Amino acid sequence: MQNDIEKILLDEKTLSSIVNEMGAKISADYQGRNLLMISVLKGSVVFMADLMRAVTIPCRIDFMAVSSYGSGIKTSGVVKIVKDLDINLEGYDLLIVEDILDSGKTLHYIRELLAARNPKSIRICTLLDKPERRQVELEADYVGARVPDEFVVGYGLDYDEKYRNLPYVGVLKPCVYEGK
Ligand code: IMP
Ligand code: MG
Repeated sequence: MQNDIEKILLDEKTLSSIVNEMGAKISADYQGRNLLMISVLKGSVVFMADLMRAVTIPCRIDFMAVSSYGSGIKTSGVVKIVKDLDINLEGYDLLIVEDILDSGKTLHYIRELLAARNPKSIRICTLLDKPERRQVELEADYVGARVPDEFVVGYGLDYDEKYRNLPYVGVLKPCVYEGK
């Protein structure tokens, strides 16, 4: 698995300080509010698990799953709900937790969908942001790190459902997906 990684972008120590800083900021911003953290499966599961423990105020969590990629590396533009939320969103201050903001299509779709369910507020928190790749106008409220336009894996992010269990974020060698 390690042999397929070209270089490490964010090591474990860096990720931990990014997540702790975000957790502190979210805790301060949401003090006295009704925080519901929504993890977008599966990519954000590792980030979510760490981030929720860096949040020091009471909060609830829920999960939803969408698919937009299939097994390739480019978005199809088609977003499908694979698993919906369990909680009724009325009265909650939602924080959508994502692994990476790329074209923006996935989060744009999710935000519109959840906004229609009358939450009190919605913000977006993403571990990684690839601003060069944006196709719809969308900015996250909390961004862990900006990354270059390269395909990255690890810390929850996959290629063809693999590499999610790497403890760091690294660039995948193009030879792994070229020719597919
Ligand atoms: P968007 O709709 O193009 O913004 O795509 C967002 C989703 O695409 C993310 O939640 C990831 O699952 C996936 N994705 C985008 N870029 C990468 C990458 O570099 N590595 C792994 N997954 C990615
Ligand atoms: Mg993915």
